[in-house]
Amino acid sequence: MTENLSSNLTITWQEKGKPQQAVWQSEANAAPPKNIVVADDTMKADEAYKLACEGTGFLYKGDFQNAKQLLQAVTKRVDRKPIKPAATMLEAFHQHRARQIQRANITNKILIELNHGNCDLKRAPDVKEAVAGALIVNPKLDKVPAKMVLSLRELLGMNGAQEWRKKGVFIDALQANIHAHYGVYSPIRGEYLDLINTTSLGNAKTAFDIGTGTGVIAAILVTRGIKAVIATDSSPRALNCAADNVGKLNLKPYITVEQANLFPSGHKKADLIVCNPPWLPAKANAPIEHAIYDPNSQMLKGFLNGVKAHLNDNGEAWLILSDLAEHLGLRTQEELLKWIADAGLSIMEKLDIAPKHAKSSDQSDPLYAARVKEITSLYRLK
Ligand SMILES: C[S@@+](CC[C@H](N)C(=O)[O-])C[C@H]1O[C@@H](n2cnc3c(N)ncnc32)[C@H](O)[C@@H]1O
Repeated sequence: MTENLSSNLTITWQEKGKPQQAVWQSEANAAPPKNIVVADDTMKADEAYKLACEGTGFLYKGDFQNAKQLLQAVTKRVDRKPIKPAATMLEAFHQHRARQIQRANITNKILIELNHGNCDLKRAPDVKEAVAGALIVNPKLDKVPAKMVLSLRELLGMNGAQEWRKKGVFIDALQANIHAHYGVYSPIRGEYLDLINTTSLGNAKTAFDIGTGTGVIAAILVTRGIKAVIATDSSPRALNCAADNVGKLNLKPYITVEQANLFPSGHKKADLIVCNPPWLPAKANAPIEHAIYDPNSQMLKGFLNGVKAHLNDNGEAWLILSDLAEHLGLRTQEELLKWIADAGLSIMEKLDIAPKHAKSSDQSDPLYAARVKEITSLYRLK
């Protein structure tokens, strides 16, 4: 499986009467705006909002900080549109997703041009490293286009991700930082890691970490004493990121990072198999969302159905799963229990932990009523 890190699409526009051309970059593989005009600091938010709603993209050529303000003002105008009160949590969830898509479609019309990964606008930050961090996974194959246009929102996302990547997230269980790359799930909501760190490993000597992301679970398992872990992921960015963290933590002799759809190749088996799948069974709107949304519970069901064949005798599987999907009406507890039973597995123990992240206590969040009830569990399956 590969990720489309930069497209081959080019876009054209007129500037001072001259035709211009650049590579179009969109993480979500969104089509470029049909019509592109050049805009500057004289552009008013109402006008920008109206044009963006009509599908016009504006290539911002003024001051970078003013462009950011314009983005904020346009976002406010999208969010100001009233949403009818939802009758159920499921309806509230779908409205929330629809609003996210609408917000992205409209605000992504504010465009920025980069030259060799640099933004030449006045008061622009140095984004070169962030752009390279997002677009270059394999230095032999990937390159930042000489002239590229992308949405300001996406550029700010790359910049924010780069700051987090450098800073890292401190993981108690490791007493070290884990560094998430752009597009890779960051273990910022780390309560489930405490469960992984404290649940008895029994006599496990070998383990798989399925959907490893940053490699954090694999690293914890090694730190706890399992000296042979295979960490898989289907995303090249995640694999690159996991390998990076494994190297930084000096755990290379113990962890093999492998690209796989779920389980390692070659009918290998392990004593312990851990998986923290994306927790919401809903459509992902961009590749970056694949760590959160698992359409039709594909990964969850694939893990449950395949895990028994990959376990050694007396081995066990640990499934990490939040029940947010249940509170949102996207999945029932009965369905989950049936999938577990149908896979020939039984629950030995269920260990629960409540999330501490800010969203779970944000009462202005339309999904607050569901989030406040959320519990993350470690299911010990045999
Ligand atoms: C919720 S994230 C968990 C990441 C990490 N294990 C952690 O706990 O921080 C889920 C991960 O599963 C990966 N993934 C999704 N589908 C997969 C599949 N079919 N095979 C392997 N990995 C997959 C995603 O790329 C993502 O890194």
